[in-house]
Amino acid sequence: MERPHETNGDCAKGVLDNGHASPINACAKRKVARRRWAILAKALKSPSGSEPSSPTDECSVRRISSFLLLTTRQINEEIHPLHVAKKRTWYRYAMTIDAHEYFVIVGHRMRTFSAEDLMGFNNTGNVCIWPSEETLTYYLGANLHLVEDKRVLELGGGMSCLAGLVSAKYGHARHVHLTDGNKSSVENVLVSLACNELSCPVECTVLKWGRGAATPTAYDLVLCADCLFFDDARADLIDTLWECLAPAGVALVMAPRRGKTLASFITACECRGFRCCEFVNYNRIVWEKHLQLLANCDYDDDIHYPILLELTKA
Ligand SMILES: C[S@@+](CC[C@H](N)C(=O)[O-])C[C@H]1O[C@@H](n2cnc3c(N)ncnc32)[C@H](O)[C@@H]1O
Repeated sequence: MERPHETNGDCAKGVLDNGHASPINACAKRKVARRRWAILAKALKSPSGSEPSSPTDECSVRRISSFLLLTTRQINEEIHPLHVAKKRTWYRYAMTIDAHEYFVIVGHRMRTFSAEDLMGFNNTGNVCIWPSEETLTYYLGANLHLVEDKRVLELGGGMSCLAGLVSAKYGHARHVHLTDGNKSSVENVLVSLACNELSCPVECTVLKWGRGAATPTAYDLVLCADCLFFDDARADLIDTLWECLAPAGVALVMAPRRGKTLASFITACECRGFRCCEFVNYNRIVWEKHLQLLANCDYDDDIHYPILLELTKA
C-alpha cells in the first residue's frame, strides 16, 4: 500500500473560514497520517473486517471522524445465502431525512489481506467508509433533484461508492457509473449492487484517474469524496474531472481542508479552467453535528470536517 505522505512544509499558514490566518504545523499533518495508519492497523487486526463506526465503540478512531449521519445494522441473517457465501459481513446503512428513511446494503470484505492488497494500488478505500463519503451521501439524500435524469459518475468511491449507490437507488438518474482505481473496492461494490434494488442502469468498473481514463464529456454529475489526500494523484484526478464532465456538468468534491491540501486543489482546478465554489455549511444537520463535535478535544475540523466543492466549467 502506498504510504500517505505529508503535503506541506512545517508551520505553513492556513486560512480559516473567518478569514484569519492560523498556523498549521507539522504536528497537525502528522496527526492525519497517524490516524490513517491507526485505522488501517485496526482493520488489519480485525478478524471480521472493517466494521462501520458505532457510537458505542469507545476505542474507534473513526468515532471522532464519523458524523453519525447514518445508522448501521449488521444483517447477515437477512441476506440471501448466495451473498453470505461471498465472504462478507453485510450492513444496512440507513439515514432519515425529512422523516423519510433511505437505506442501502453494503458488504464489508472479511479481512484476508493479500500481498496485492497491502503492496498494490492504494488501499484506503477498503478500510472503511470515510466521513466525506458519509456527508456527501447525506447531502445527496437531501438534494436528490441534483441526480434526477443525470448521467452520474462516482470517482474513487472506495469499497461502498455509497453516494453513488444512494443516487442509483433513490435519485432517478439516467444512469450511474461507480468507479475506483482499486480492483478489490470495485469487486465489493459489484457484489453490493446485487443486494440493492436500483432505480436506473448502473455499471461499476475500475477507473484509474489520468488523461484518457474516462469517456469525454459523458457525465452531468461527478461525485468524489476524500480523494485529495495523495499529492501525486491530484493532477490526474483534475484531468479526469475535466475530461469526463459535460460542458454544463457539475462535479461535487467533498474533502476536509487538511492544511493547504484543499486550497492547492482549488488553485489547480482553477488553472485547469474550472470555476470552484466552496460550501462550508451545506446542510443544517451536518453543520449541527460539526458544532457538537467541536466540544470534543479529539475533533480537529481542519482534518475531519468535509468541505463541499462545486466545480463547473467556467
Ligand atoms: C480515502 S479513499 C476514499 C474512498 C471513499 N470515497 C470514501 O470516502 O469512503 C480514496 C479512494 O481513492 C482511490 N484512488 C486513489 N488514487 C486513485 C487513482 N489514481 N485512481 C483512481 N482511484 C484512486 C482509492 O482507491 C480509494 O478508494
